Formats: sequence, structure tokens, C-alpha cells
Amino acid sequence: MSVEQRVQQLRSEIEQHNRQYYVLDSPLISDADYDALFRELQALEAEHPQLLTPDSPTQRVGAAPLPEFKSLVHRTPMLSLSNAFSDDEVVAFDRRVREGLGAVDEQDYCAEPKFDGLAVALTYENGIFSRGATRGDGSTGEDVTLNLRTVGNLPLRLQGTGWPSLLEVRGEVLMLRRDFDRLNSRQRDKGDKEFVNPRNAAAGSLRQLDSRITASRSLRFFAYGVGAIDDAVLPPTHSALLDQLTAWGFPVAAERRCVTGVAGLLGYYASIGAQRASLPYDIDGVVYKLDDLAAQQRLGFVSRAPRFAIAHKFPAEEASTRVLGIDIQVGRTGALTPVARLAPVFVGGVTVTNATLHNEDEVRRKDVHIGDTVIVRRAGDVIPEVVRVVPELRPIMAPEFVMPGFCPVCASKVVRGEDEAVARCSGGLFCAAQRKQALIHFASRRALDIEGLGDKLVEQLVDAELVRTPADLYQLDLPKLLTLDRMAEKSASNLLEAIDQSRQTALARFIYALGIRNVGEATAKDLARHFGALEPLIEAGEEQLLQVNDVGPVVAQCLRQFFAEPHNLEVIKALRAAGVSWPDVEVSRPPAGALAGKVLVLTGTLPTLARDDARALIEAAGGKVSGSVSKKSDFVVAGADAGSKLEKAQQLGVTVIDEAQLQTLLANEKLKP
Ligand code: IVH
Repeated sequence: MSVEQRVQQLRSEIEQHNRQYYVLDSPLISDADYDALFRELQALEAEHPQLLTPDSPTQRVGAAPLPEFKSLVHRTPMLSLSNAFSDDEVVAFDRRVREGLGAVDEQDYCAEPKFDGLAVALTYENGIFSRGATRGDGSTGEDVTLNLRTVGNLPLRLQGTGWPSLLEVRGEVLMLRRDFDRLNSRQRDKGDKEFVNPRNAAAGSLRQLDSRITASRSLRFFAYGVGAIDDAVLPPTHSALLDQLTAWGFPVAAERRCVTGVAGLLGYYASIGAQRASLPYDIDGVVYKLDDLAAQQRLGFVSRAPRFAIAHKFPAEEASTRVLGIDIQVGRTGALTPVARLAPVFVGGVTVTNATLHNEDEVRRKDVHIGDTVIVRRAGDVIPEVVRVVPELRPIMAPEFVMPGFCPVCASKVVRGEDEAVARCSGGLFCAAQRKQALIHFASRRALDIEGLGDKLVEQLVDAELVRTPADLYQLDLPKLLTLDRMAEKSASNLLEAIDQSRQTALARFIYALGIRNVGEATAKDLARHFGALEPLIEAGEEQLLQVNDVGPVVAQCLRQFFAEPHNLEVIKALRAAGVSWPDVEVSRPPAGALAGKVLVLTGTLPTLARDDARALIEAAGGKVSGSVSKKSDFVVAGADAGSKLEKAQQLGVTVIDEAQLQTLLANEKLKP
């Protein structure tokens, strides 16, 4: 392909993506991929200036507006920013600024978060908000005045004094993360489509022909600059201008800072990067602006962007890639998890090669086929996820995922309970995958706590058939361990020492270590306290099990099934024969207090009781405090700023009480209706 053809191809591709992004709010590729196309075109045009035409997408911003809204022509075009993705590019930006100004000294910059929302221009005539527009193609936008009027934090009339006869403020409309979560949970409840991210939700909400819908969506506005101003003297710097906007009543990013030189810029980038996850809104980078407004004027613009400002972007948290296959992972309890194997893609600062698909239903819901192009997301330390499929890019005959009927590791039958989301391998400890996970769990810190027995080692021990069950761990010796790859004498004897130490344990740890389904640490403790020893637990019938604090029919059934399995009893016998033991536990049955057998959930800040005190009082009265609301909760005690737990309680119809009513219950009195 000739350079000319490639340039044409890039232009038409970029135009298509512009339309998908700006007009239809439904991008086909990730921002990172779009940036890559854009940069390739920019580079080719820079190398071959004879190919540059005025209609190239590098020469304008966005695409034409939808016909339904009235068009508004911007007094001055709404431009875009150049991007920097590395420290070197920031250094180069600062160098260009200083060269352009003929300055040797370090420059002062105003640094701000780069909001991930959508740009708007708001016009105020004699202090009154008169109209507002989206960016559109940069010179003409959509008239969304009615919708903007519904944005809660947008001033409809300027505050303070000294405002100009005409002021055009520019900024970003966005949705706070918590409002986004609420909106999506409402959408879910109504059976409506959920939004992919806060930016799309904000765009979809602002560009509604019916402004009542916009009003119901909790949008926010943040100002970052001025587009036009009549009859007023501008302050000397951008930061003073932002202060002025604040005084007139505009919300401006509280995180903005004045910094000096490249070191100041990069320091700001690092500090905002560290705060990113805890900010109330999504940002995709930071923006640096030369602070001196007169110097800004002197530098001016290149075709698409100012020379005096640049966006320093964070590594994209979303990227698109292809699904090469869907593998199955087998967990400790046999749960089969479909995992998308991906063409390697750099996202959120690391290269991602697979992403969880959670379960079969999730694969159906997201409609992921093998060969699909998908958007993957990795934010912070979370496991990479497939956000959605790009259906337009599905190859013909892309095979659908089918949950296998037999375990890919041990070939046992796969079963899925009627109300269960999860399909499981029925092989139990016959399945090498489950065996490995069971051993990892057995050795984990909260179980028998065998230091040094990590995933890799368990893998080797099982594959070398040195260990089948936890009891086999106690039969290991130096010669056996030294047959393993990369096992030195020192680490082998350390491991044997750790295994030896684990023989002295506690009953609750031992019960937890068995890895019985639905028996977590807390339940294991309750069981240990209730039965005092292992034998009565092994022999307990359903009736007796149900008497244990927080044990319901499901847990009782899991326990019964586990101890009914001769194989499991053999392992327990072998463990005890190997010397695993624990001191006796004093039996303590739940006290018969005012809240005996009741499950309460605490949420929000109570007026007088601290969380721990409330918990202690409830437990002393025989009640149990649970961390999450379910149908089994008896009461939710709600204080100030109660959040999702309160909502959940209302959804499930769980009784909600306040601190005073809790005190009434504790005093063993009936609640007044
Ligand atoms: S200043 C000449 N400041 O980023 C353009 N823009 O890529 C001056 N944005 O369309 C823009 N946060 O919508 C500026 N603090 C900020 C920003 C910001 C987000 C958006 C803006 C613009 C895009 C440019």
C-alpha cells in the first residue's frame, strides 16, 4: 500500500470512529486504539506535508452534530489538546513552550485533572445563563440549553460582582461515580440496558431530546476555561482566571495546582495518579497549561490544539483486543470459570493476556464468541474484565462458547444446580485441579498456615505425585523434596520445618482448612465453639447443625455431604495420625439474650454508638452482626449517610431501624410501630 493510500484509509477510518464516538456515543474501538490511528496519520502528514488537506480529521475535531438538536455556532472554535503519553513528551512540550517564548527560565504552569466527560460551552449574558452547547465538530455544536439547565451544580446566574456583559465558560459535563452506580442499579432493576462507563452515561444523559430524562440523571459540570469574554479585563494568569470563575459560582477542580518546570509537572502527574482511584469522578489524565495568559497568546495554536497546553494521559484502562479462545479454570470447590484468552494488550499499565468471564450466564449476557473483538478493562489492581463485545467486528462464524459436559482436567461429569450460576466438576478430590486448590487452601495463612507452600510448589508436588491429599504433606522428607525442580536443601528443610509446626493448630483453623463449601473462617469458628471437638461435628445431624449460629440449611447440607464422604473421613484420620492436633475448645452456645438468634446489619454512622460498641452490645444480647444484607437479615440498623446496604434492605423488605429502636430491642422491649 502506498503512503497516499494509507493516509486515505486512516482518514476514513478515523472519520467513522469520530462519528461513532461523538455523534452516536457508541465507540467501536478504545481511546488508546483511536489515539494510535490518529498519531499514525499525524506522523504521515508531518513526513509528507504535500498530502495534508484541509478536510483531514487532524484538521478538525469530532464530527457533525445529530440533526435533532438546533445547532449553535461557537464564537471561537472549541479545540482539542495534544496528548503526551510519556515523561519525554512532557519534557519536549516544556522545551517547545520555552523555545517559543525565547525563555530560558522554568515556566509556571497550571495543572488540572483531565475530566473524562464531555465538553460544553456555557454562555452568560449579563450574568444569566442564556445558552449552552456541546462541542460538536468544534465550530458548531448542539444546543443543549434546556438539558444543561437541569445540571445541579451549574450556576444559572453568576454570583459575586464584576462579571462581564458576555461570558462564555468552557468545561466538562460528567457523572460522578456514585451517581453512575446508582443509575446502573436503577437501570438493572427496571430491566433496562446498563451504561458501560460514567462518560457514556453522561453523554447519553446530556444528549436527550427530553430534558426531563436529563434532569433525573444527576450530572455535574466543572469549568476549566473561558471561551469568550466581553467588557472585562482578564486576570494575568490561568490560575487567577479559575479563581475568578470560582468566585462567580462555577465548580472548578479542587485538585488544580500551580507548579513550576518539568519537575513540577511530573510531580503533579504522579500525585494525581495516586489519588485517581479515590476521586469522585473518572479522569483520563491531567492537563498542563502555561499559566501566563499573555504568554499563551504569544504561543498561539497549531491547527488542532493550543501550543501552550497539553494533556498528559494515563495509560488507558480500557483497550480492545481479540478473544483467541475461552479456557476453563477449575477452582477448589470444582467451580468452572470461563476465562477469555486474549491477544496480548497493554492496558492499565500492564500487558493483559486473559480476563475472567465469571460464569456461563455472564458469557451469554455479554455474548462473547471466540474470535470477537472485545473491550477489556483493568482498573487498579482488579482482575482484568471483558466489558463488552464490539458486535460490528465479529468475524463470520465466530464459534459460541459452550460449557463442556466433562471437566477439562479430570474428565468427570460437569453438573450445574438448578438455581446455581456456577457449573462444577463433580470429580472432587479425584480432580487434580481441585486437589491443588484444596492443598493451597489447606496451607493458606488463615488455615494451617504452612509458610513457603505456595501455588507453584503445590503444583509441582501434585504433578510429581508426591502429594495427593493434605495428609501426604506430613509424609514429605528431604530426599523427596530434593527431587523437585529448583529445590535447594535450605528451602526444603525450611518447608519441612513449617509443615512440622503446622501440626499444632486450632480446631477452628482445622475445620476451615478442610475447605468445605460455604464454610468460611467465621462459620468454622462458630462450629468450633458450638461443638468443642471434631467428632460431634462429624456426627451432627441437620437439626443439630441448624442450632449453630449463622448455619442455615445450605451450610448444613454442605457439612453433611462433606462428612458423609468416606474419602474425606480417611484424610481427616490420616491427618490426626500424622500428629495434627489442637487444644480442646470450651463449648459456648449462643446466649439466650434479647437478640438471640437474630442477624443484624450495621450501616452508616449512628448518632451515639461507635460501630464496635454497637456490635459488642448486639453480640452480648445473643445477636449476630453480619457485613451484608440478605433475606436472612432480621434488622438493618441505619445511621447517617447509610448507602447501598440501606437500599438493599429496602429492596428485600428487611426491617430498618435506627439507634433508638436498637436500644429498645436491646432492653428486650417490643418496637413501637
Ligand atoms: S482545556 C483548547 N482542561 O479534554 C482546549 N480540557 O482533549 C482546551 N478536558 O475537549 C481544553 N479536562 O473537553 C481542558 N481540565 C481540562 C480538561 C479538558 C477535560 C477535555 C476537554 C477537551 C479535551 C481535549
